[in-house]
Amino acid sequence: MSEDVFKKIVSHCKEYGFVFQSSEIYDGLSAVYDYGQMGVELKNNIKKYWWDSMVLLHENVVGIDSAIFMHPTIWKASGHVDAFNDPLIDNKDSKKRYRADVLIEDYLAKIDEKINKEVEKAAKRFGDSFDETMYRQTNPRVLENQAKRDEVHARFAKALNDSNLEELRQIIIDCEIVDPISGTRNWTEVRQFNLMFSTEMGSTADGAMKVYLRPETAQGIFVNFLNVQKTGRMKIPFGIAQIGKAFRNEIVARQFIFRMREFEQMEMQFFVRPGEELEWFAKWKETRIKWHKALGFGDNKYRFHDHEKLAHYANAATDVEFEMPFGFKEVEGIHSRTDFDLSSHEKYSGKKIQYFDPELNKSYTPYVIETSIGVDRMFLSVISASYAEEVLEDGETRVVLRLPAALAPIKLGVLPLIKKDGLPEKAREIIDTLKFDFKCQYDEKDSIGKRYRRQDAIGTPYCVTVDHQSLEDNTVTIRYRDTMEQERVAIDKLSAIIADKVSMKNLLKTIG
Ligand code: GAP
Repeated sequence: MSEDVFKKIVSHCKEYGFVFQSSEIYDGLSAVYDYGQMGVELKNNIKKYWWDSMVLLHENVVGIDSAIFMHPTIWKASGHVDAFNDPLIDNKDSKKRYRADVLIEDYLAKIDEKINKEVEKAAKRFGDSFDETMYRQTNPRVLENQAKRDEVHARFAKALNDSNLEELRQIIIDCEIVDPISGTRNWTEVRQFNLMFSTEMGSTADGAMKVYLRPETAQGIFVNFLNVQKTGRMKIPFGIAQIGKAFRNEIVARQFIFRMREFEQMEMQFFVRPGEELEWFAKWKETRIKWHKALGFGDNKYRFHDHEKLAHYANAATDVEFEMPFGFKEVEGIHSRTDFDLSSHEKYSGKKIQYFDPELNKSYTPYVIETSIGVDRMFLSVISASYAEEVLEDGETRVVLRLPAALAPIKLGVLPLIKKDGLPEKAREIIDTLKFDFKCQYDEKDSIGKRYRRQDAIGTPYCVTVDHQSLEDNTVTIRYRDTMEQERVAIDKLSAIIADKVSMKNLLKTIG
């Protein structure tokens, strides 16, 4: 899918009430978004799918909802105060700020693009006899570019590993990277910039305390480990799940809701015996990829990206990547975090955070497997994979969101053929019986064809049309979004027909 289609998806999200730019009438706030009347329904359904898959399907996973504000020492213990940084550089002419690592990554991507273009050109020239591997190994221009890329990449990886900011700047200078706006190479030093937002709690006269907006929900789980374990009489292995807002002062915020400053996470920390963590890591990888694939977008849309460079506290980590319109991108992280967080909180708080294992008859600090997925990124992946433009037999184009029925904001559109003769009343009667189970939408404006298109555009899996015959024999025409087929059915059969496809329970059964 191209960038072009991505632009269309972004405008579709706005036009049909899924996602709006925050503070739009004040020209917007960068990288902050609001969910509209359709967006909030889809988002809630995604959250329900995740929540139920965790706390209903796993007897040993329970949920919590911790506060966004937490004691500031928590962020010292977690390492965020000292290490949750991005290396930034300013251009003195444009006065714009950039992430130094992203400037270098973009530069490397451009070399890759150059090499690929060269290869593509040759493939066209040579046709079937083209041997790509041989070409890459022997063509002087490709070899030259590849050598340059490898050299810069090696310097870059080392500079990041050593947190060597001077070297990062030197790479930018040596590669003659220019500011895309001013076109100049007038760069400042590279500085570390902490991504946490801070504010003050309490009045200044009393001595206000600096507090942070949480950059992840996970720490709320770690600091409640003992509360939940003791009050819930939880036995290891067990998990704690949470959905909530997180905040990061992202510098390079682009690609719509992919990278936001205020976003939502669905995280689960699974506490296990030390030594058993890699086995559980493998199990959760499998459970999570099954959850993604059950949505039916196609298994080829997903891949794991195992981390080569691990954080100092992790002994395994992988990303679930999804094929977004702009390439495969991380949607979820699965991490084996050892006992780093609990041990660190024990040290900083001075409170013993251990678990007495009755089977082993000893106490220990549990190890942790974390699954962490962004609600907004999941939302973007669902919308992108569902968006389709179809040319119909009559030559018209219809835009349809092929959303999994269980996630669709509206399950049923109810459309009286005309606005009189008692048809609107009959349509309302249908909604009044079904509204307890399904989100229904009544629509009487414009032709039936136009109304179908509007429901297609928001992904409504079913529409029923109420006509004069409905008054006589209590039947309606049901129309299916994906096939556009229509059939006559009894009104009292509607509930069962719809329930079968839109039920979250049936979706959960495919993974439970
Ligand atoms: N507790 C682990 C953690 O927070 P992370 O990889 O930094 O790990 C987990 O974030 C997930 O949160 C990501 O896979 C992504 O889906 C989402 N996420 C992170 N930063 C985001 C941002 N700026 N905007 C939207 N989603 C974000």
